[in-house]
Amino acid sequence: MDQYVVFGNPIGHSKSPLIHRLFAEQTGQQLEYATLLAPLDDFAGTARRFFAHGRGANVTVPFKEEAYRLCDSLTRRAQRAGAVNTLCKQADGSLLGDNTDGAGLVRDLRVNAGVGLKGKRILLLGAGGAVRGALEPLLAEQPASVVIANRTVEKAEQLAAAFADLGPVSASGYDWLEESVDLIINATSASLSGELPAISASLVEPGRTVCYDMMYGKEPTTFCRWASAQGAAQVLDGLGMLAEQAAEAFFLWRGVRPDSAPVLAELRRQLAL
Ligand code: ATR
Repeated sequence: MDQYVVFGNPIGHSKSPLIHRLFAEQTGQQLEYATLLAPLDDFAGTARRFFAHGRGANVTVPFKEEAYRLCDSLTRRAQRAGAVNTLCKQADGSLLGDNTDGAGLVRDLRVNAGVGLKGKRILLLGAGGAVRGALEPLLAEQPASVVIANRTVEKAEQLAAAFADLGPVSASGYDWLEESVDLIINATSASLSGELPAISASLVEPGRTVCYDMMYGKEPTTFCRWASAQGAAQVLDGLGMLAEQAAEAFFLWRGVRPDSAPVLAELRRQLAL
């Protein structure tokens, strides 16, 4: 049977095996999908050994940049992201790298939440790998503007400069921003420590601004609670992005697009347990 894995370290709590098992059942595809703990100092060797027989893999923290360097060819969005979350062995034995994270975010917003992005003013909080991965797919939606705000402003400036050829993207510090926007996406890891990027409440226009946290948890994240308190029109967490990036990877491997809705419902149910 065709073998797939997710590489990471740690990897024990990955939801990817469950997601891909459900996708495979739903679409009638015959495949096996497992976790593979790669040692921190030997991702490349572990990946090469797996791909002697394996067909495809997902890659998570902390190996996405190493995976990018390992590939023989890259999709455009993976090239721009500088990171790979999906590996696919080609017919000639070479390794194609893709990054489906940003596409998963856009699909979750557009299809699941019904939030169109064309002509919208978007504020991205953070300037790490999560933002780098999201920029190409977000700019492809032709927003009116994308502002990258970060605690360390130089990192936001570097990212804005690196993506300026793809659309209207600029950088900012948190405390420079006052005017409300259509969509705020939190791509910082601040929620992990229960913190919040230091942004003004005036950025949320009650009943109109949509707020999205790439993080998720059993309880609403710190950012989601803040957004609800400001009266955001919709408050969304990153569980949908997780399901959609997986659906994009499944499509790349198998040529079949699974229906993410029932899988997302199952993930939400398990998260609440
Ligand atoms: P990822 O790959 O998930 O994006 P990362 O590259 O480590 O992770 O980036 C983490 C992001 O969260 C950065 O933008 C970081 O801001 P700095 O560049 O200024 O460090 C941001 N971040 C982490 N903790 C934060 C906090 N408590 N408040 C605001 N921003 C925070």
